[in-house]
Amino acid sequence: MSRPTPSTQTLHEALEAAAGIGGLAPSIHNTQPWRWRVAPPVLELRSVRDRQLAAADPLGRLLMLSCGAALHHARVALAAEGIRSTVERLPDPADSDLLARITAVDRGGASAATTRALAAIRERHTDRRPVSSTPVTPTALTALAQAAEAEGAHLHVLRPDGVIELAAAAAEAQRVENRDPDIVEELAYWVGGSNTPSVTAPSATGGGETLGLPADVIPTTPPRSTVPGRDFGHGGTLPIGESPARGGHDRAASYAVLYTDEDLPEAWLRAGEALSAVWLAATERGLSVLPLSAAVEVDATRATLRRLLSHLGEPMLVLRIGVPEPGPVPHTPRLRPDQTIEHR
Ligand SMILES: Cc1cc2nc3c(=O)[nH]c(=O)nc-3n(C[C@H](O)[C@H](O)[C@H](O)COP(=O)(O)O)c2cc1C
Repeated sequence: MSRPTPSTQTLHEALEAAAGIGGLAPSIHNTQPWRWRVAPPVLELRSVRDRQLAAADPLGRLLMLSCGAALHHARVALAAEGIRSTVERLPDPADSDLLARITAVDRGGASAATTRALAAIRERHTDRRPVSSTPVTPTALTALAQAAEAEGAHLHVLRPDGVIELAAAAAEAQRVENRDPDIVEELAYWVGGSNTPSVTAPSATGGGETLGLPADVIPTTPPRSTVPGRDFGHGGTLPIGESPARGGHDRAASYAVLYTDEDLPEAWLRAGEALSAVWLAATERGLSVLPLSAAVEVDATRATLRRLLSHLGEPMLVLRIGVPEPGPVPHTPRLRPDQTIEHR
């Protein structure tokens, strides 16, 4: 049995806190393309099209994936407060930027699983360093696939021959993007080099809260790997400590394609929710995740990924999953909550 709905004040605070937790979600180039509106008992999620990557993501698929991850984070935060909620995705056909309406229904106890997931949200980060030589267990990979399924998406873990094809596709995607001046310029805008501060968002208080990628989360040199990571155009300041004896940083990594049944905005949003669920499940198991999106940004290599899935679905994102090397990786800064949350 559930307890009565909490007072509006308390609910307002809980919704605001959930929006703040949503802001910790991963997003393409840390664009954080979301805005929240707290209107108890409703929390609305809107997209911010100004922060869509016009060149690399003209359809807004990666923007929607990012917002979907934020939506899942907010759902976890509410559930960890014991708040049961309903979610309407893309509820208004006349307002395509209104991505989701979360409505608090009632309040009870929080499960241990949601409390663990909330802790994982605070810990989760992108780790671009080489992974360790310890492989990911099949049991863990099954759990991650189940996490994706629970959110209406799928995770296909590639076999070694698939990884070789993925490596070729990722390298080709990078070559195509490096030749596109609009994509190169866009990347340079969002990704700070060692001498360039990342993009500073306009702020009423003049605080330098950031969007984009700072240099300290980008490896000093590209790690040697079978599947190339994103070429940010320059090195950063993150030490990678790669062991030359190991020969390639991703030998023990698993590679998976997150995919959906359809290539439509609601499926993109759900893929983002699945991305968050998979990543939190990985974090809880001590695994690192590195999303690789170049191969889904380029039509020709996207087709290769579709073939790798035996045309079972629409590829949304490639994930490298591994057991991380010890050592800290800095967290990427976020906009302040007052820059992303408004109140009714
Ligand atoms: C849809 C999507 C695509 C991404 N693609 C890449 C990528 O190709 N390469 C990369 O290094 N990071 C990628 N990322 C990770 C983001 O750069 C990262 O989430 C963001 O900078 C925030 O940092 P954090 O995850 O450490 O909090 C992607 C994230 C998302 C959500």
